[in-house]
Amino acid sequence: MNWVASLVEPAYLFAAGLFVLSLHWLSDPKLARRGVRAGVLAMLVAVLATWARPEVSHHTDIARHLWVIIPILLAIWPGVWLANIPLTAVPQRTALSHAFGGLAAGLVGTAKYFYWFQDHPDQLTPFRMTAIVLEIILGYLTFTGSIIAAGKLQEVKWIPQRPWVYKGQNFVNLVAFGAAVVLGCLIIFMPDRSWSPWAYGAIVFLALNFGWMLVMPIGGADMPTVIAILNAYAGLAAVAMGFVLDNKLLITAGALDGSSGLILSIIMCKAMNRSFSNVLFGAFGQVQAKAAGGEQKAYKPDTPENAAAMMEQASLVVVVPGYGMAVAQAQHKVRELYDQLKKRGVTVKFAIHPVAGRMPGHMNVLLAESEIPYTDLIEMDDINPDMPQCDVCLVLGANDVVNPAARFDKTSPIFGMPIIDADRAKTIFAVKRSKNPGFAGIDNELYFLDKTFMLFGDAKAVVGELVKNLSSGSGMH
Ligand code: TAP
Repeated sequence: MNWVASLVEPAYLFAAGLFVLSLHWLSDPKLARRGVRAGVLAMLVAVLATWARPEVSHHTDIARHLWVIIPILLAIWPGVWLANIPLTAVPQRTALSHAFGGLAAGLVGTAKYFYWFQDHPDQLTPFRMTAIVLEIILGYLTFTGSIIAAGKLQEVKWIPQRPWVYKGQNFVNLVAFGAAVVLGCLIIFMPDRSWSPWAYGAIVFLALNFGWMLVMPIGGADMPTVIAILNAYAGLAAVAMGFVLDNKLLITAGALDGSSGLILSIIMCKAMNRSFSNVLFGAFGQVQAKAAGGEQKAYKPDTPENAAAMMEQASLVVVVPGYGMAVAQAQHKVRELYDQLKKRGVTVKFAIHPVAGRMPGHMNVLLAESEIPYTDLIEMDDINPDMPQCDVCLVLGANDVVNPAARFDKTSPIFGMPIIDADRAKTIFAVKRSKNPGFAGIDNELYFLDKTFMLFGDAKAVVGELVKNLSSGSGMH
């Protein structure tokens, strides 16, 4: 049907526009749901339009269509399963998506190369071969790199969380990558020699190994940044795949995916005051040898009753949420606390650090889920000038993002990272379960200040106690 074929290009254009709008909407919490729907619709249109392409839809052989239908049906089950994981597992879920994206790009490139090698060697032009080589190197390295990243984040037993390092590691990795590039250059110009498929196989082998070797030396704390970088690689692999398949939508969508991954990793690196090379080669998160005989500092535990009384008297309360709030799923209790304090005329603000939690926007998503108004979620740079006026700062399962060592301790792994100035508040209550450090594995001076009091316990339980004390009106010192 000619009219169906004539709709393919307009449909691609429509899908490309929707992808752009989807990214635009996703950057605003109020419009994020619309962004997700637009992305889903764009992908649906893209799949249907590709199916309608004459070279696919003109196949009267039903078996050819079953090759499309059966994998889609089979993929629904793992898709639904992956969509229902808890929010705290989203970074590793995202890593798995990139792994599958990378593998798909690698397999498509491989299928195309061997198809052309056997039946149409004249099609293996240097331009196409360059695209194929880029596609398989990026695709396969993204596959194994993302599997290791997902495993580290999921804390699976057989993958060490800490950086796995040995002498000369960067050199070995560089040689593996360099060898893949050299072989790639050879087959770009000699794709149809009898030895070319062997060289091709060697590139795949080297790329698969380079992927996991690149990610193993990186600590678990840096995995979200690594995932954003792998996102960029998967996007670039899709761009290369678009050139191989001569599909403009794939080129556009891959470029959007790749550039957004790159921008995200730059934002994260900036928020942690780290460079790309430090994340990729810095082995951040290695166990630091502690100086022996260091004095043991004392925490000052307090009760939710006292904390509630202080909050009730305050005119400004700033809550600094962190990873612990996500683990405890305390956001709904936090909403109750917010309501109780607002009822008493207390101004309540939430200080949002760009890398609080384990993924970008982690705190925004949780607080939006409990319907706390967006206008009370204040970015770090905007809330910090108000911190000296803050009567009570409630540090809720946050640690590294409020650690003053980032300002002055040049030996600290988080030195230079911008922080929320919780220590400048008049009184601080910090909620955590134990004396364990945060993700960077270091002590936090904030907890030992004269004006800081600890509320030890699970964030949901402690905030529940605060709410109980406020609602019963017993929050008195
Ligand atoms: P962390 O420094 O990881 O501290 C979280 C704190 O929450 C811990 O001290 C932990 O202490 C406490 N906690 C855990 N479960 C809890 C529970 N159920 N109830 C109460 N407290 C609980 O978190 P943060 O301040 O949000 O900092 C994020 C870290 O991740 C930074 O180092 C950041 O650089 C890194 N990172 C984040 C991202 C993104 S995009 N967000 C990307 C890369 C790296 P206890 O165990 O004692 O309870």
